[in-house]
Amino acid sequence: MSVMTQPPEGSAGPPTTVVLFGATGDLAKRKLLPGLFHLSRTGLLPDLRVVGTSLDDYDRDSFIALARKSLDEHSHDVSEDQWADFSQRLFWAPGGTPEGLRTGVEEAERNNPDGYQRLHYLSVPPAAALAVVKTLGEAGLAKDSRIIMEKPFGTDLSSARRLNTSLHEVFDEKQIFRIDHFLGKEPALNILAFRFANGLFEPVWNRNMIDHVQIDVPEKLGLEQRASFYEATGAYRDMVVTHLFQILAFTAMEAPTALDPQSITEEKNKVFRSMLPISPEDVVRGQYNGYLAEPGVAPGSETETFIALRCFVDNWRWAGVPFYLRTGKRLAEGQRIISIAFKEPPKSMFPAGSGVGQNGPDHLTFDLADKAKMSLSFYGKRPGPGFRLDKLSMQFAVEETDWAGSVLEAYERLILDAVKGNHTLFTTADGVERLWEISAPLLDNLPPVRPYAEGSWGPNQIHQLIAPSTWRLPFERGWREKK
Ligand code: BG6
Repeated sequence: MSVMTQPPEGSAGPPTTVVLFGATGDLAKRKLLPGLFHLSRTGLLPDLRVVGTSLDDYDRDSFIALARKSLDEHSHDVSEDQWADFSQRLFWAPGGTPEGLRTGVEEAERNNPDGYQRLHYLSVPPAAALAVVKTLGEAGLAKDSRIIMEKPFGTDLSSARRLNTSLHEVFDEKQIFRIDHFLGKEPALNILAFRFANGLFEPVWNRNMIDHVQIDVPEKLGLEQRASFYEATGAYRDMVVTHLFQILAFTAMEAPTALDPQSITEEKNKVFRSMLPISPEDVVRGQYNGYLAEPGVAPGSETETFIALRCFVDNWRWAGVPFYLRTGKRLAEGQRIISIAFKEPPKSMFPAGSGVGQNGPDHLTFDLADKAKMSLSFYGKRPGPGFRLDKLSMQFAVEETDWAGSVLEAYERLILDAVKGNHTLFTTADGVERLWEISAPLLDNLPPVRPYAEGSWGPNQIHQLIAPSTWRLPFERGWREKK
């Protein structure tokens, strides 16, 4: 079989070698090794080899020991048989030289005369990515392979263009998979199902019915030993220009003509082209008290650990509808929600005091947790005498269905898609460059960073940004638990 053929979706992938750059790093330990193990044991990648590589001083045995520790910490129910099978699939190639890399890959692939689909996963800091690309070219490992690039893709428009130009010297665009793991989350895909597999919602999905949209991703986490990455990146580049804008595109895009990469990418990129440049007046930047004392943070650093902003998709569907985005570290809760606020009725027959409008407008909320949840909230009558109104909701949780066990973690899904050559859920050079373009007014004229307390919801200015509406989080009523 040709190594570039594309098996149908849902089927197992071809024999695959994943060359994992940054194999001893945090992402590899938390997500990639457990994800590869899961793909292998479930038979989605039945013939998998993993070649770990990094500049750290490791060999095959110590890499296998690291993988075992990572599975113990981050995978469930690893049986001894499964581990025995997976550990034989792990190889090591010393990083840095084309020869070392080539030898490691050849050793891993020795037993398969028909060849493996090679996937290079670059889980390395942005500054190291181009050196790795060059080494892959020199090692002769670029041809017919695929490459997953981690974000951020550059730090502004000119660096993103330079990065794309240099990448294209070694890889064709069709070989490149720019990963944004938010697009691999089941609930993100469910936005597409919800919008385009039903006739019910699309007619209300526009400026006539929708007042505003919130995409809110507060995190409780702090820097987690990533100070050197984070100092140079900050919340806008780490989360907004990547994950939050991609989710915005799924929420705002027109119906694609087909569920294929080209149609979906076209529609997403149209959203990005319609977005107005981000104005510094529409942005609140924050830094949590205590950030400056974190190891690895520069004295007087002005890196933002929090950002909230208002932006607009200036097309026929969305003109004038604000999209409010917020994310930050060390906030009160870890949540990932999209909330659509509908317009309120123009007139009410219900008297003041009846409860109408008291809990904000009707909302449709998507929870982007690994196990998707969705809720539609509306006013209804409280049972009994009189006419008291209360906010009620209809809720759906994947967890309550029989499919809960089939959920693929975002990285697993995206690695499998890349192995199969499916670009649908990856970003393109054009899209990324356009996002840097609309970011330029903000990046050229950054508003000051405001302090905020750890465990809060960010600096006070966030309320002015969204007034007269209010932030959906913290929820007034939590998600209903199954009784
Ligand atoms: C990463 C960011 O891409 O996404 C992290 O670099 C962030 O700073 C993480 O914590 C959030 O992803 P998830 O899937 O844990 O919500």
